[in-house]
Amino acid sequence: MRVGVLTGGGDAPGLNAAIRAIARKALADGGEVVGIHNGWAGLVEELDMRMIDPHQVSGILAVGGTILGTSRVNPLSSEQSMQAVVANFEAAGLDALITLGGDDTLSVAAALADRGLAVVGVPKTVDNDLQVTEYCVGFDTSVSIVTEALDRLHTTAAAHHRVMVVEVMGRDTGWVALMGGLAGGADMIVIPEFAIQLDEIVQHLQSRRARGRDFSIVVVAEGATVGGLPSVDDQAGARDAFGHLLLSRRGVGPQLAEQIEAATGFESRVTVLGYTQRGGAPTAYDRIWATRVGAAAYDLIREGRFGVIPVKRGDGIAVATLAEVAAGQRRVPQDLYELARVFY
Ligand code: F6P
Repeated sequence: MRVGVLTGGGDAPGLNAAIRAIARKALADGGEVVGIHNGWAGLVEELDMRMIDPHQVSGILAVGGTILGTSRVNPLSSEQSMQAVVANFEAAGLDALITLGGDDTLSVAAALADRGLAVVGVPKTVDNDLQVTEYCVGFDTSVSIVTEALDRLHTTAAAHHRVMVVEVMGRDTGWVALMGGLAGGADMIVIPEFAIQLDEIVQHLQSRRARGRDFSIVVVAEGATVGGLPSVDDQAGARDAFGHLLLSRRGVGPQLAEQIEAATGFESRVTVLGYTQRGGAPTAYDRIWATRVGAAAYDLIREGRFGVIPVKRGDGIAVATLAEVAAGQRRVPQDLYELARVFY
């Protein structure tokens, strides 16, 4: 059996562990593994594939990024592109394709499954926002990076008696901000699920100061809405191939820091953690989970089950359909948000 593997969308620590698991299982079965390069670009434009041998997946367990490369190329943008993917799938002689991605990549996989292609997904995104699964590869590493950053920012914020605004990833959901903020002892967390006014943030920081807290750490997700911030314009700005605003240019963190300083007079600084949250070695949890879910994806192919995706339910792995991935996003619930507020 010839199995293709592709990683699409933003990279996430743990992708290589999943690729390794798929390849090791397939090669042990006497199968062939084909790496499709740079996400859907490797099937849309020219067929860009290379055979994966045991040496290529050796030593990659602890390595971040993806040995296959990735992109945000979107075949759903035209019928011609979708047809090119189908034609290249056949030209590559694939019996099945495993696509590792978030909602965008997996929406393409679902559409291909609808066209009869033998496709299986693997959920990954540091945003951890797929409703279909309780966990996505990469999230734990991202939260660990945010936690370490907050620990470091605490000491410098305390030394200078500053307000430190920390912008973290999270387009539509605030999982990284909330969990990182909980672990790192944030004094306020601002996330897309719960819109807030600038005035509320200002009042909270003033009340902390009045209580003798002479520094504060505010964690804000890049996609959060803060009412009263003058120049965040969600209608303008560059977008990616899936139509998403490039949030790294939206600037909610820098603007929030500026406005806080203007309103309170407290010296304020901003740190945008940006792509550091997706870089470097995966945590033990991500290595283990990626290994489990990658192996499960291969097992589904061996069983002849396509148009599906292994997902986390409780401590185990369940199987959902790729169509279910589009059903919605998993959002931070009120009780977790309230828990964080206890420590403000
Ligand atoms: O893939 C998720 C994510 O990390 C988001 O949190 C972030 O907004 C986006 O990717 C950044 O995308 P890009 O790598 O295309 O700039």
